[in-house]
Amino acid sequence: MTGPVVDVDKAVASLLDSARAASDHAYSPYSEARVGACVLDEDGNIHSGCNVESASYGLTQCAERNALASAISAGMRPGGAHVLLIFASGFEVLSPCGACRQVMSELLPADAVVISCVSDSEYRYWSVSELLPDPFILK
Ligand code: THU
Repeated sequence: MTGPVVDVDKAVASLLDSARAASDHAYSPYSEARVGACVLDEDGNIHSGCNVESASYGLTQCAERNALASAISAGMRPGGAHVLLIFASGFEVLSPCGACRQVMSELLPADAVVISCVSDSEYRYWSVSELLPDPFILK
């Protein structure tokens, strides 16, 4: 049994403020949930996102997918990050939704670590392959 490929405590210490800051930008008038996420790419860049809701509810974009879209938009190649950290205050510890798990499976390596934080001392983490075993991939 091997552990996570990143130092989880260190990742929380270095990324939590960025994810918390992103959550302050949430557009969530319907749920009032404020979620922030950030991706640390292999060049050391942090890419952030927040949840953006829509009056047509199903169009809502989660913070995790927006952070990944931001990373790709800035030039990160798929597989180019090993950490995605989520901050959400209004939840217990948020477990990422199925749509985000699919997108994580495509854009992050299977052994990348997803950390979900309520604070710097309360969090859970998983590998991408734990979140979505046997993902749908077009080959
Ligand atoms: N949300 C996220 O941003 N990430 C998740 O993993 C789950 C849910 C957002 C979407 C919506 O704006 C609100 O939380 C309630 O579902």
